[in-house]
Amino acid sequence: MRSHYCGQVDESLIDQEVELCGWVNRRRDHGGVIFVDLRDREGLVQVVFDPDRAEMFATAERIRNEYVLKVKGRVRARDEATINPNLATGKIEVLGLELTVLNAAETPPFQLDDEGVHEDIRLKYRYIDLRRDEMQQRLRMRSQVTGFIRNYLESNGFLDIETPMLTKATPEGARDYLVPSRTHQGSFFALPQSPQIFKQLLMMSGFDRYYQIVKCFRDEDLRADRQPEFTQIDIETSFMTEDQVMDITEDMIRELFAHVLEVPLPKPFPRMSYAEAMGRFGSDKPDLRIDMELVDIGDLMADVEFKVFSGPAQDPKGRLVVLRVPGGAELSRKQIDGYTDFVGRYGAKGLAWIKVNDVAAGREGLQSPIVKFLPDEALTAILERTGTESGDLLFFGAGNATVVNESIGALRVQLGHDLGMVSREWKPLWVVDFPMFEWNERDDRWNALHHPFTAPSTEDPAELEANPGTMLSRAYDMVLNGCELGGGSVRIHSTDMQNKVFEVLGISDEEAEEKFGFLLDALKYGCPPHAGLAFGLDRMIMLMTGAGSIRDVMAFPKTQTAACPLTSAPSEVSPAQLKELNIKLRKPVGEA
Ligand code: AMO
Ligand code: AMP
Repeated sequence: MRSHYCGQVDESLIDQEVELCGWVNRRRDHGGVIFVDLRDREGLVQVVFDPDRAEMFATAERIRNEYVLKVKGRVRARDEATINPNLATGKIEVLGLELTVLNAAETPPFQLDDEGVHEDIRLKYRYIDLRRDEMQQRLRMRSQVTGFIRNYLESNGFLDIETPMLTKATPEGARDYLVPSRTHQGSFFALPQSPQIFKQLLMMSGFDRYYQIVKCFRDEDLRADRQPEFTQIDIETSFMTEDQVMDITEDMIRELFAHVLEVPLPKPFPRMSYAEAMGRFGSDKPDLRIDMELVDIGDLMADVEFKVFSGPAQDPKGRLVVLRVPGGAELSRKQIDGYTDFVGRYGAKGLAWIKVNDVAAGREGLQSPIVKFLPDEALTAILERTGTESGDLLFFGAGNATVVNESIGALRVQLGHDLGMVSREWKPLWVVDFPMFEWNERDDRWNALHHPFTAPSTEDPAELEANPGTMLSRAYDMVLNGCELGGGSVRIHSTDMQNKVFEVLGISDEEAEEKFGFLLDALKYGCPPHAGLAFGLDRMIMLMTGAGSIRDVMAFPKTQTAACPLTSAPSEVSPAQLKELNIKLRKPVGEA
């Protein structure tokens, strides 16, 4: 129906006839002449309808925003005065010769250029929202990225192999989405939280290098970077060490950024141990664009009278840190109170602070509710260790190490953004040497920090059993600008070790057999050493496009409460369907 995309009409076509199809972005009636900005996925072009052609002009008079048109016209240069430098097609316009309304449109529920539309409305009318240039660009980049990745992996010998969506629970730590079986009543499929076990089985089948761009499903609390249904770039290899897997995937990301964004990422990416990341940044995904660090002062405070500090300083599970905020003495009491509330959300009991007005003036130069509790030597030592200068602010986190890490780690990032301290760079990082397990206080047992198929740094099951608390794993995470982009590990490829890990995790033999028996069996029939990782595609695109949420890089995402305003999913099903599945709801739907 068309000769060109609207956005591609340029000076080279002057005096030529073009046929265009698109949506009315805006119609302006300039007393006698009608201007229409016609839009398609490539952009906008201005079409002019003169009253000379009366019938066409009459049609042009009744068109409205979002009508779908077909226009035949002649390209002509704009007058110097009407050139629009902000538009790719701004030097030309199209003089309308023929106009067909392919479809009329009701007044849309919101204007495309309105920035303030509530997200629920945007999602309900997603097909309109997606017409916005910003959304078009994001989804276009997403397609470019998946295209590039497929090419990269295919040319490196990776095979794209699909794995089932109707399957058994996979242990990635979230709740499962379940699907009832009609043919096996009372039984359920789980949608995969990841293809983890299947990709391992594919290595056992000898495929050597696997990849899949694949949907994963996790029923967990949603955030800006989490969706119940999201996409992984999932990778698995045989006979490769962690360094080789990290190298090949790092190359992929570096080439991707060079190709799509023209951004040069460092080679190699820096590496940091989990312990160092937690120590310096309170996070296993530190945002290295922000130049502030947590500084431990427990050793300086063990004997002070101020219990808020000496308590955690003496507690083996405690931590006491300072975060020096350069220039932070400018912060108002109200702002400091705001940050106290902020850390409170992470369980911190308070947020002690010292404003350092004059670092040379001793106690006199310090403004703080807590200096009166601290001796001179302690204060001097803090200022020295943190390299504090006049005009800085010191925040203190004291308490249980986990709470201090989470609260002060988050505070660091928040302050970085609030105070304009986030450098305009790309800061990738590998985090390595994760602990194998973390202690779950609530349930009084060990949890796997990655998943239970991750290999420990020892080959000896007895050593693992003896030191679960200090054992490191062979896992690695790729972090970019404070976001966990991907993670993976070398896998366990021996039955003994796999059984031992299940045992440490408190998974009984029966439970292991019931849940993962097929994997344990497969390990017995010739399993190669294997390793892999998975990237979060949505997060990758979010970072690459600068979007504020992964919902903005998905065509049809779910809301924060895991619903779809467009289709109204999830929705009730008919009694007949329930009956067929032999599912009885405790009370009839809709009744109190
Ligand atoms: P993991 O659970 O770390 O590892 O997931 C890999 C990556 O997927 C992304 N991701 C998410 N993105 C959006 N919404 C979510 N709810 C969500 N959950 C995870 C993150 C994360 O880094 N099977 C292992 C990988 C492996 O070991 O090979 C796995 O799934 O970017
Ligand atoms: P309090 O003795 O509870 O009044 O606290 C004195 C100061 O220490 C206040 O500024 C509190 O915000 C701060 N504070 C209390 N508990 C903590 C904590 N766990 N970590 C950091 N600061 C704290």
